[in-house]
Amino acid sequence: MARIVAGAGTSHIPAVGAALDRGEAGNDYWRPIFAGFEPAREWIAGVAPDVAIIVYNDHASAFSLELTPTFTLGLADRFLPADQGYGRRKVPAVEGNPELATHLLERLVAEEFDMAQALEMDVDHGLTVPLSVFCGAPDAWPFPVIPLAVNVIKYPQPTARRCMRLGEAIGRAVASFGEDLRVAVIGTGGMSHQLQGERAGMWNPEFDHAFLDDLTADPERLAGLDHVSLVREAGSEGMELIMWLVMRGALGDAPREAYRFYHYPASNTALGLIAFDCEPAK
Ligand code: DHB
Ligand code: FE
Repeated sequence: MARIVAGAGTSHIPAVGAALDRGEAGNDYWRPIFAGFEPAREWIAGVAPDVAIIVYNDHASAFSLELTPTFTLGLADRFLPADQGYGRRKVPAVEGNPELATHLLERLVAEEFDMAQALEMDVDHGLTVPLSVFCGAPDAWPFPVIPLAVNVIKYPQPTARRCMRLGEAIGRAVASFGEDLRVAVIGTGGMSHQLQGERAGMWNPEFDHAFLDDLTADPERLAGLDHVSLVREAGSEGMELIMWLVMRGALGDAPREAYRFYHYPASNTALGLIAFDCEPAK
């Protein structure tokens, strides 16, 4: 049977991808950040997932502001990096897993989550930057990916609780897939940040640390965060953190925190990363 063996949350700051792509990861600004990624890279190499479900948001790259599904599963066998205005990012194409993705679609719709389905979809920095964070700059990504895009950029976004419940349903769906697969779930975005308006550049370290702590200690508190509180405390783009709750819901009762990294400043905000193991220590 397939099983979820690990999960992680990470910011998806585009400047991190640009620093790597331009060979600037070793400069004074980025060195401590990329040093913080090293243990996360060792961790995921040890997890060695057969497939990762990456829960991310599209930033009006594959979708437009005219067509914005709430939850979309990527069913394709290949996803290209999106052109976000500067050409496609020169990173490998992302291989999919249409068999598991189709099974997730069937099970989630049967559980009354009305997923949209994408047979073709470019993936933006919300998905490719986390791959760079965890995998560096390989010739091919080390595992296939099922993209799960969540609308966080346009009102009305799904609630934090809805995202957590979706994650729980993903956990059940994975467990009912017949093939023996080790599955990782990665939620991207956040942490607290706002990119526009009077509060552009805001960050809230108290909120961020409490969020990281409660992913283990009290995920139901996080599921209860309403949108107004999230925007007030975490900024308008801090709303992206609801995608970490899809991940957390999928991990079940007692995942073990394996690694945490928090660094300020990175681009317009702080960078946060947390990794969990779901299996007993070897
Ligand atoms: C930044 C963060 C994001 O999540 C994003 O989508 C774009 C930019 C930033 O901090 O620069
Ligand atoms: Fe973002």
